[in-house]
Amino acid sequence: MNRLPNLLSRRAARVHSAFTSTIRIQNRSYSTPSSHTYEQIQFSTPRPGVGLITLHRPKALNALFTPLINDLNTCLRACDTDTSIHVIVLTGSAKAFAAGADIKEMAPKTFADAYGADFIESWSEMIRIKKPIISAVNGYALGGGCELAMMADIIYASKSAQFGQPEIKLGVVPGAGGSQRLTRAVGKSKAMEIILTGDMFSGEQAEKWGLVAKCFDDADACVEGALKTAEKIAGYSRIAVKAAKEVVNKSQELPLREGLEFERRVFHGLFGSQDQKIGMDAFANKKKAVWKHE
Ligand code: CAA
Repeated sequence: MNRLPNLLSRRAARVHSAFTSTIRIQNRSYSTPSSHTYEQIQFSTPRPGVGLITLHRPKALNALFTPLINDLNTCLRACDTDTSIHVIVLTGSAKAFAAGADIKEMAPKTFADAYGADFIESWSEMIRIKKPIISAVNGYALGGGCELAMMADIIYASKSAQFGQPEIKLGVVPGAGGSQRLTRAVGKSKAMEIILTGDMFSGEQAEKWGLVAKCFDDADACVEGALKTAEKIAGYSRIAVKAAKEVVNKSQELPLREGLEFERRVFHGLFGSQDQKIGMDAFANKKKAVWKHE
């Protein structure tokens, strides 16, 4: 009879061992942004909860081509699933955020190549990311570079940033959302002028026209400003931040009435979260909210 506890504990040990080896296997295959090797971007976590992605193809002013987009998409997806990252900052160098699609890669393409392979469709992967993304734009943000910056949720820029949609000079039109997002941001007349002339505009002008949320004196201040904002957002309830991004983005797609209904449903839904109780209780009792981060 007294062998029973021994048998039970051996069985428990076997179950525990199977369980921990499953955990080990899962841990081994768990993908974090830092567990990948990148050729065309750099990744770091300079602040708590903040992932910084830096486009890094200096010889071609970060011109966008397939290997760079593949690295960027891999890193963005890994950030989205990594529970230690809450906000993403995307930047380039002081000279170039990105000087557009790689013209040398694009030049020989035929219609069949472009249409058949859905050329540049994968460049918009960023819009599927659920965590907030801040673009910190310095130097050139032209063509696809400007379009990439506009896919983010917030754009910060330095005074020296040079935005533009110069595709008209190459005999084409913007292809990664420029005609749609720029028009929504700055209005039809201004967007027409920018797209039909191909002229560049500065970070200061972009702020004045509402494309950019904040304009900074120089590149370092711009990245620093983006990191500071990202850290602030990363300190809030994750479920509320996710919902806030979703409701604002819906305003770009839905008519007002549907948008308002959608917003109200999401607002109602948050009353089912622990963080709503924590946030409101903290205000009422004059204490700091310690989020559950459901
Ligand atoms: N594609 C490929 N290479 C590019 C590039 C691009 N978009 N932009 C710059 N480069 C390369 C240059 O060819 C050059 O390489 P080499 O040293 O091997 O010659 C290197 O980057 C440095 O560029 P520059 O010598 O031209 O630098 P600059 O300071 O004199 O000029 C610039 C900078 C004004 C940005 C100029 O490079 C330029 O006009 N680039 C093209 C910008 C452009 O037209 N972008 C839109 C592309 S189309 C598009 O993006 C379509 C879309 O909607 C998806």
